Amino acid sequence: MAAFLPPRGMRDFYPEEYRLRETIFTAWRDAARTHGFESYDAPVVESMELLERKAGEEISEQIYTFQDKSGRRLALRGELTPSLARMINARQRELAFPLKWSAIVQCFRYERMTRGRKREHYQWNLDIVGEESVMAEAEVICTAVDALQRLGFSCSDLQVRVGSRALLGELFALCGLVPEQYSACFLVLDKRGKIADEEIASLLADAGISKSRIGPILDMTSIRTLEEAQSRAGASSRAISDLRELFTVAEPMGFRDDLVFDISIVRGLGYYTGIVFEAFDTGRKLRAVFGGGRYDNLLSLLGGDRMPCVGLGFGDVVVAELLAECGKTPRTSPRVDCAVGFMDAASRDIAMRVAACARQSGRECDTTLAPEKAKVFFKRANRIGAQHAIFIGPDEAATGRIHVKNMATGVQVECSIEGLAASLSAGKDQDTDSTDGHQ
Ligand code: HAM
Repeated sequence: MAAFLPPRGMRDFYPEEYRLRETIFTAWRDAARTHGFESYDAPVVESMELLERKAGEEISEQIYTFQDKSGRRLALRGELTPSLARMINARQRELAFPLKWSAIVQCFRYERMTRGRKREHYQWNLDIVGEESVMAEAEVICTAVDALQRLGFSCSDLQVRVGSRALLGELFALCGLVPEQYSACFLVLDKRGKIADEEIASLLADAGISKSRIGPILDMTSIRTLEEAQSRAGASSRAISDLRELFTVAEPMGFRDDLVFDISIVRGLGYYTGIVFEAFDTGRKLRAVFGGGRYDNLLSLLGGDRMPCVGLGFGDVVVAELLAECGKTPRTSPRVDCAVGFMDAASRDIAMRVAACARQSGRECDTTLAPEKAKVFFKRANRIGAQHAIFIGPDEAATGRIHVKNMATGVQVECSIEGLAASLSAGKDQDTDSTDGHQ
């Protein structure tokens, strides 16, 4: 029988892969904490009713759905944002705004498999709810850039490309479009570069845009600078002043060099309303490392009061690819404070007491589960990254004097079981000393 594999697009995490995942999660968690975001979580299964939206968005066609035994229509979440909106709406009167929330969750999308796209991924979400000003965009981008720096990236590796649906809306209005047509245009424009312009034009026509307007709409995405955008949108453009403010405040916040204005960034999710952004590797070899923007209407669409929201999603898959691409994948190896082994059945209980003592003093301690030869034990201690190794044989069991070997220096210190904690601490700075008078 052929060996079982995980379902297509789903990943196993062997310890080595798990360690890399933990490195990424740690960068996310530390950046969120450093910027004052609070953690939260939501169920991986949601009601289909919450997740289903108007057609046109890729994500709505990629939902894993099922019925439970009572016939409820349920789904695995493809993203966290609807769950966040549901949670905020449920406590809109009690929560203190603006709030800054962070979560790391697994998301499922029935994707066509390409580089950087799996059918499950872990996604770090940062959202600020209740802040009208562009400081919300600045804060989420700054926090994501902080995480990138913790992973060893700089602005020479990645750029955060910033566009604005509000700006495109102003330009659409100048072309004679009515607001009801904007959202269909955004979703079509997001496909630019992925499909041919003729196809874009026919999708715009399908969305009810008259032929004479399609050319000017496509032409908008050729705008290169904020100045050019301003000359088209006019001096009083609110969208331009928001964008300018974001670029201005990015300077004191330390991420101005990471930002680039890019009018073609529109995003493929229907709910964004204002500034939108995506981070790409400078070589543009990979898909977006993170993406997000302002979505001021989602809460009201889902039955709550209108409330300004800004957020982003940052996946583990593309960033891991980028680490590899840039030769920055951290070399992780297993590590444990100490390993304890024993030679024969008679030494086992002393060895277990030694291990318990190490753990009570707050040390990570791995123990051998069966008697083994010293050589085998020390080899394994090395393989599991033990900083110290203690092997109990008949002598140690009889006298209660144990030998703590520093695996990096090879120096061995003798102590009593009770003196072990002190020995392990002292071992850090004075490996050659006996901690209770013997060596
Ligand atoms: P999104 O652009 O669909 O946004 O996903 C955000 C990030 O998740 C992507 O940039 C990518 O890193 C990762 N990602 C998405 N799909 C996959 C996949 N199939 N395989 C691997 N990685 C993937 C959202 O999900 C929004 N809900 C983000 C947001 C939060 N906006 C506001 N708040």
